[in-house]
Order: sequence, then C-alpha cells, then structure tokens
Amino acid sequence: MTDPVSTSALPARVVVTGATGKLGRAVVAHLRDRGVDVLAVDRAGGRDPRDVEGEFLLADLTDYGQVVEAFTGGADEHPGRADAVVHLAAIPAPGLLPNAATFANNSAATYNVFAAARAAGIKRVVWASSETVLGLPFDTPPPYAPVDEDYPPRPETTYSLNKALEEEMARHFCRWDPELTMVGLRFSNVMDVEDYAQFPSFDADPRLRRWNLWGYIDARDGAQAVERALAYDRPGAEVFVIANADTVMSRSSAALMAEVYPGVEIRKELGEHETLLSIDKARRLLGYEPRHSWRDHV
Ligand SMILES: NC(=O)c1ccc[n+]([C@@H]2O[C@H](COP(=O)([O-])OP(=O)(O)OC[C@H]3O[C@@H](n4cnc5c(N)ncnc54)[C@H](O)[C@@H]3O)[C@@H](O)[C@H]2O)c1
Repeated sequence: MTDPVSTSALPARVVVTGATGKLGRAVVAHLRDRGVDVLAVDRAGGRDPRDVEGEFLLADLTDYGQVVEAFTGGADEHPGRADAVVHLAAIPAPGLLPNAATFANNSAATYNVFAAARAAGIKRVVWASSETVLGLPFDTPPPYAPVDEDYPPRPETTYSLNKALEEEMARHFCRWDPELTMVGLRFSNVMDVEDYAQFPSFDADPRLRRWNLWGYIDARDGAQAVERALAYDRPGAEVFVIANADTVMSRSSAALMAEVYPGVEIRKELGEHETLLSIDKARRLLGYEPRHSWRDHV
C-alpha cells in the first residue's frame, strides 16, 4: 500500500466534467471525501439537475462559453474559480454514435476544456484518455506484453483516434505554457462492483476479452488515480495506463498470452494474474496502487 496523498497537495476547488457518468460519479464522491470542493458538471443530470447531490451545473461542453463560465465562477450560484480540472465527459466508447458524431462531441468538448483552462489560468488538468490508444481491439497483436506507454498511440477507431489527438493536443498546450501540468489517464474498461458478477462467464472463452488484454479498472481505483494525478506537480504532459493489478480471468496471464498471442514477446516474469496493461509507470510516478479486485467480490 502506498502513502495516501496529503490533502495539502490537492487543489482546493476542482471542476469535474462527465460528473454523472460511471467514472465521474466515483471520482466526485472520492474527491469530496478527501475534502476537495468539487463543482460537478455534465450535460445529463436527470430530470432536474437539483436532484444531483452536491454542487452541480448542467452544461454542454461543446459550447465554449459554458465551459468558461463553469471554470471561472461565472455561472449564477457557482461563483468559485477552479484551481484544477478533471475532464471525463465524452461519448465513452466506439460504436455508440456514428463516428463523426463521436468525434464532433469529444473533440469539441476536450478542445474547449483545454482552451478554457488555459484562458482561466488553470495550471492542472487531468483528463480521461483511454486504453484504446494501445491498439485495441488487438486484431493486430500488441508489440509486446505487458503493453505500456513506451510505444506511439495505435488508434484503431474514431473514438480512439480522438483520444490520441487529445494526447497530442495536451503536449502542445504544455509547450505553450511551461507552468501547465496535464495528465492523461489511459483508463481500462471501467467497472462498478455490480459488474463483477458477470466476470466468471469470461473464463469459458479466452478470446472473449482479448480485445483489451483481459484488463479492467474498478471505478474506485480509477478515482484514486485521478486524485494522485491531481497531486502530480511536474509541469508538462504525461500519460499513464490505469488498470487494476490483475486480469478479469481465472487462468494465468502467461497461459492467456501463450494461447491467444503465442508470437508476442513477454517482457517480464508475470505474476499469476498480473495485468497485461502495465501500471508500472503509474505506480512509479503517481504512487498509484489498486486497492480493489473483482476476486474480492465474486
Ligand atoms: N467506460 C470505459 O470503459 C472507459 C474506458 C476508458 C476510458 N473511458 C473514458 O472515461 C471517461 C468517462 O467514461 P464513463 O465510462 O464514465 O462514461 P459515461 O458515459 O458513463 O459518462 C460520460 C459522461 O459525459 C457526459 N458528456 C458527454 N458529452 C458531453 C458534453 N458535450 N457536455 C457535457 N457532458 C457530456 C455524459 O452525459 C456522461 O454523463 C470518458 O472520457 C471515456 O472516454 C471510459
């Protein structure tokens, strides 16, 4: 277990976008628990946004003006200026909307968030990139395993192409402002505790979940990664793979690779169920250490 983040290392007020989504709900709850003043922002908030617990603003991030108001305290009843932004809002996977609609929403939302943060003088931005940039669904085998941040993005879908462009965009925003820290978290497939009941069914066919090398991220561990990324204070753009420490499968990671990707180089001795989405960089630089496993719930 690594040390908890000291509260003094965390920004006082944080805007979280995508706050009513699967990951956003866990992140907002976690940061509020840690004493952070959170303005939750989403374009979906139920029938009445006042039903959403805590401070919440209904906003569409594809409209730049709405993003600026959210970040600078311009919206009535939400006067606080943000010290940092956690940007999670997106169409969260390929194939949910036509490609151009996914691209239009996600690219506009992220550009507006990055640009409004710059305009507002916010020096810390954490955002959701995605495991997909590693080359999912791995119809072309991974270059080696465990996969990590050391090879260039290999987007295979429009959704993933947009995430790869966001990572590139972040590098330029940081080049423009040497005091800016931008952390892209390449989350694996997000899971809530209720999702774990289906995990044993994955065992029958090792090819069923090969598309992300049998990885997952517990939403609560995802929230921990966000907290640690908010405390990361080295200026520049950095990306991290964020997954749980194990796979979704009962058979060993080495056996899975041997069966499904026999030609792929294995670069380290693998623990029995060790993740094939390497979290070594996140462990090293963020102090990230997953606390949960589906194995504790099924
Ligand atoms: N779910 C996964 O398995 C997964 C894996 C890797 C990365 N991610 C990324 O993590 C983030 C969160 O994903 P999630 O699973 O919580 O998705 P989700 O769909 O549950 O939540 C996303 C939220 O973003 C909001 N949103 C979308 N476009 C918006 C806009 N223009 N303005 C305001 N709000 C908008 C939606 O209303 C929704 O509440 C996304 O960026 C996603 O791409 C998700």
